[in-house]
Amino acid sequence: MANSGSSAGLALASQRHLFEIPDDVAFLNCAYISPLPKVSLSAGDRGLRRKAQPWTIVAADFFTSSETVRKLFADLINADADDVAFAPAVSYGMAQAAHNIPIRRTQRIVTLSEQFPSNVYPWMDLAERTGAAFVSVPRPGDDDWTSALLSFIDGSTGIVAVPQCHWTDGGLIDLEAIAAACRSVGAVLCVDATQSVGALPLDVKRIDPDFVAVASYKWLLGPYSLGFLYIAPRWQRARPIEHNWIAREGSEDFAGLVNYSHDFQSGARRFDVGERSNFALMPVAEASLKLILQWTVLRISETLRLRTGAIAERARGEFGIASVPDQRRAGHYLGLRFSGGVPPDLPKRLAAANVYVSVRGQAMRVTPHVWNTDDDVEKLFAVLKAELS
Ligand SMILES: Cc1ncc(COP(=O)(O)O)c(C=O)c1O
Repeated sequence: MANSGSSAGLALASQRHLFEIPDDVAFLNCAYISPLPKVSLSAGDRGLRRKAQPWTIVAADFFTSSETVRKLFADLINADADDVAFAPAVSYGMAQAAHNIPIRRTQRIVTLSEQFPSNVYPWMDLAERTGAAFVSVPRPGDDDWTSALLSFIDGSTGIVAVPQCHWTDGGLIDLEAIAAACRSVGAVLCVDATQSVGALPLDVKRIDPDFVAVASYKWLLGPYSLGFLYIAPRWQRARPIEHNWIAREGSEDFAGLVNYSHDFQSGARRFDVGERSNFALMPVAEASLKLILQWTVLRISETLRLRTGAIAERARGEFGIASVPDQRRAGHYLGLRFSGGVPPDLPKRLAAANVYVSVRGQAMRVTPHVWNTDDDVEKLFAVLKAELS
């Protein structure tokens, strides 16, 4: 892939100029924390400064920016703005789901082995409280998570809580097939799409999941502690885990807030986290989401698919390092599997050369984004060559 132009149809040229990344840094670790684009950094600076002059913050500001961001996120997953709530963390979003889904002692909650903890602990807790069984699908030898998961969905399944791709190595889960299986047995589908939304298409109108939680500080290029929870319309009359004033009907009228209301704002807004009108961070999320929508998820995903595909092929060819086969891997996400495990010193050696990746489970994650260049990849392979040959 050339740095200078989009040679492969949809692929984007490197967008490094839009980020504050020094030339000698090869940051291939979006799955850890993405860098903020310059435009988002400026928006955050302006947002934080508003608190220095609170007389400039008016009642409408508590609503306008949040509603813009709600709609931008909704557009990203083909949802309606009404179906999106603000959740600061995936654990918070899953707590909203776990608080509301009825489950019986005879039923099972199904997850994947080595799944990210924020989509595990809420379900372990629910199982403990209700006597339902907590089940984790073993890692399939052939990386076919979809078939493995389907074989666990039957009449006893109450909840399926999974990601769109595995956070250790990008192993892909076909959510349309899983959702159809859930529907056929009356199970509820909860998705943690933190490691995919923004870099891999996810269409809630096609999939029809029940809940989808997304943290924004990775593939949404957004701030820490401002995330989202998609809630299917059929759950929007459920009970939120907390009760904040802005989620109630009529909250726009500050003078009338003591006229307590039993009714909520419309749609999923009742699930918004308290103090969701975050003047410092909301503009950051807005700027980053606009950038992603401008690039389009399709072009981002194609760019990253080509990038990770080339790295996977070279790692296999030059060093015999395996990864999930392309057709079973999310295009943006690569986990390198070294026979005998990731050499313990390798991440340290890479960091010493300003090459940033991360180890999770048995895989070394290489997760590039549109700021990366061919040079970054050369730096990665220079260290691999020095350490492995
Ligand atoms: C798959 C996945 N989900 C969620 C998170 C973050 O969870 P939380 O927002 O609860 O801190 C991460 C962070 O690494 C993750 O990899």
